[in-house]
Order: sequence, then structure tokens, then C-alpha cells
Amino acid sequence: KLPAPFQVPLPIPPVKKPLRSDAKADYFRVVQRKASIEILPGLKTEVMGYDGLLPGPTFDVRSGRTTVVEQVNQLDVSTVVHLHGGHTPAPSDGWPLDMIMPTNGEHSGQHMAGDMSMGSRTYTYPNTQRAATLWYHDHTMDYTAPQVYRGLFGLHIIRDDEEDNLPLPKGDREIPLVIADRAFDADGSFLYPALPDGPGVQPAYMEGVVADVTLVNGAPWPVHEVDAVRYRFRVLNASNARRYELGFDKGPAKFVQIGSDGGLLDKPVEHKTLVIAPAERFDVIVDFSQYQPGDEVTVVNRLDSNANVLRFKIARKAVDDSSIPAKLSLYAVMPRPSGVVRREWRFRRGSDGDHRGWTINGKAFDPAVMQAQVKLDQYEIWTFVTDVHHPVHVHLAPFQVLSRGGKAKVAEFDHGWKDTVDIRPAEVVEVLVRFTAHKGKYLIHCHNLEHEDMAMMAAFETI
Ligand code: C2O
Ligand code: CU
Repeated sequence: KLPAPFQVPLPIPPVKKPLRSDAKADYFRVVQRKASIEILPGLKTEVMGYDGLLPGPTFDVRSGRTTVVEQVNQLDVSTVVHLHGGHTPAPSDGWPLDMIMPTNGEHSGQHMAGDMSMGSRTYTYPNTQRAATLWYHDHTMDYTAPQVYRGLFGLHIIRDDEEDNLPLPKGDREIPLVIADRAFDADGSFLYPALPDGPGVQPAYMEGVVADVTLVNGAPWPVHEVDAVRYRFRVLNASNARRYELGFDKGPAKFVQIGSDGGLLDKPVEHKTLVIAPAERFDVIVDFSQYQPGDEVTVVNRLDSNANVLRFKIARKAVDDSSIPAKLSLYAVMPRPSGVVRREWRFRRGSDGDHRGWTINGKAFDPAVMQAQVKLDQYEIWTFVTDVHHPVHVHLAPFQVLSRGGKAKVAEFDHGWKDTVDIRPAEVVEVLVRFTAHKGKYLIHCHNLEHEDMAMMAAFETI
């Protein structure tokens, strides 16, 4: 039996504190461990969490300052950490075979091709990028979906002066909303339809695992008290496979988008509802000033017969010194270049030899095969083609959407620098991308995590 919605207060993930800092870097240590936590009221759920938390602690860092994280694996499975949206050197990018082996687990040893470490690994993130809402999560070969599902995800927020100088809502009026759906057994444990031996999900879940409890910041359908003022919400869809169209059940509230995956837009964009695919981020302002103390407004998912997501209770009138500037940042829409390298990536259900599942360009992920060699510092146009819905993600560099479905006007939810694009069935999307600074092996993949684990991933090399 599921709990009643809007009983649990919205938690805010704690900000991770550095062990020490020097002129250029901040040093952290995170322990990946099991923990038994109360997610559903009165029940205990065993999670795999960064520091035993779900979501993990939030990194709140400055652009240009290096973040060094020692990740200690105290779980009984191998793990890999990826900073999603990070401009990260390859050795720290979370290549799926660069596993942190558990010191007290079994070493299946089936993947010997990676740079494995025993017990811990230190990741270095230069944060050489503008202010943006990134997130970190597990990226283990074949097991990303179940391990993220059990809790291995958290936020990594980069700030800079350009953004700090804006009069946006700040402090406790700037709130992360990490949305993730999960299913629970009667005793409170997570239900995930894994196959009994080895990787993958039961055939019925081939399309992706969607579940009946919506967690926001780890709490089921939480409730949050707000003043009747503007708030800034950094919305992340951390679900394995579910897309949302977030809307308000009543009243004048709307979403004023100020940023996307890769930071601030040039100017705000208004949305009545917000369509968000797995791994996408939307940075939005919501103005509650037209509500009265005592009013309640519920965020629902219109793609799931208005299923509940979370509720706001307007507590009181208050002074609001924030505003939404007409010009947000120096972000510029890039013109379509001519004469550049073009590549096509086809995301399809299919088979490749013995592999049955999902493929890119007809191939199942093979870490030994680089599907492209991409020169640094050159713009390229990449075309993504789908059969069904696929949220397509590229590591290392952000991109701008040039066209969707043949239309060159930027579509509603495609504004700004993106690293994940929600591609609808049988759609063609073109993006403009340019990789810089780091040579090495990187990934392009579907961020429906079941699709990803079922090999809808390809490697490319920056040269
Ligand atoms: Cu969010 Cu390759 O991952
Ligand atoms: Cu997919």
C-alpha cells in the first residue's frame, strides 16, 4: 500500500564539504555504501548511496576551480562515476570499464579491458565551463540502470560570476528538484526487474523501467512551504526511463526557463508545461506571488494522467527582491556552419550478432571499437535518428540543437547549450557540437538507462 501524497517535507540534499582546499582545487572524499533509510513513511529501504544518501550530496563548486573527489567503494559491486555534463579529461570521465572494484565483493573479472582500481579512485574535474546544473551518477558497464536506481546519483552545481551577478532568487529560494520514479515492495525494498543472473532486465521492461512512486529529492510526492514570491528551481529528471510533462494543477503559475543542461539562456523562455526527458535539466523561475497564503498548488505529470509529483503550500506574503532580467547571459545561438564534418547516429532497436536489444548505427556497444575519430576544436554537425523515444546524450561537449523534424526554428525545449536531447519517435534532430581540450575515449548513448545497459552506446575518440 502506497503512502498518501504530500505528507513528507521536501528534503534538500546536503552540500558536500571539502576535506581541504588550496589555491586551485577543493578535495573531497565520498564513500559509496549501503544504507537503510526511510523513504516511504514507516518503512526502511536499502539503498546504494554516495555517502549512503539518495540522492547523494550536492557538489556546489566554482567555475575554473578544480574539484578532486576520492570515491571509495564500500559496496559489494563494481562502480564507475561519471560527471554528466562535465568537461572532463578522459581518465576521470567514467569510462564504463574503468571500474572501482569493491574490496569486499566478488571480482567477476569479466571486463579486463578497463583501468580498474581497487577500493577507490580519484576523479579530477577541472570545471572549465560556465555555471550549470550538472549531475554525477554511476556508469558501470552493463549495470548503470540498477545501480542508479538504487541510489547512485547526485547533483554537481557549477557557479560563476556572470550568474552570481544576476538578481535571481537565491539562498533558500533556489531549490534543486531531482525527480526519479521508483517502485517498492511491501517491506519497503526497491523493486527492480533485473534478470536473476547477469545484466539486463526482464523482457517486459526492454523499453525501460518506469515505476509508480515519484520521488523528488528522494521523498515520495513531497510537500514544500513557500513564500508568495519567485523561486528558482533546478529541475533534473534522474529517472531511468520516464519522461515528464510537468504542469501546475491550478492557478496562474508557469515555468520561466532561464537555463538548460549547459547553463543560462540568453533570455528567459516561458512554458505552461515543461517536457523533460531522462538526464535533462531545466533551470526555471516560478512566481507564486499571485497565490494567497493557504493556497496549495500541485505539480503534476501530464504524460501520466496528471500523476502527482509534488505540492507547494503558500505560507505567507513576503518581500521579493529578485527579478528575471531580460538579458541573462552572453549565450549566443550559433549559426549553422557550412563545409563541416557531418556524422549520423541511428538509434534503433535491433540485433548485432548475438546481441538483441538496442543499437547505434546497427552496432551494440563495443568498448574496443571507436565509431568515430573526432578532431578537437572543429565544429561538426551530428544527426540523430530514432525509431522510438530516445534521450540522446553526448559526453565531453555541449551542443546546440540546429533542427528538429526538419524545422530549423529552435523547438520549445531545445534552447541553450544541451548535453541531452529528447528525441521523439521517428524523429531526426541535428546538433552542432565541438569538442575541446581533452583527447581520449568518450561516449554517446541513449540515457534511457535500460537502453544504455542493453548496449545503446557508442565510443568515439577525440584526437
Ligand atoms: Cu548521464 Cu553517459 O551519462
Ligand atoms: Cu533509448
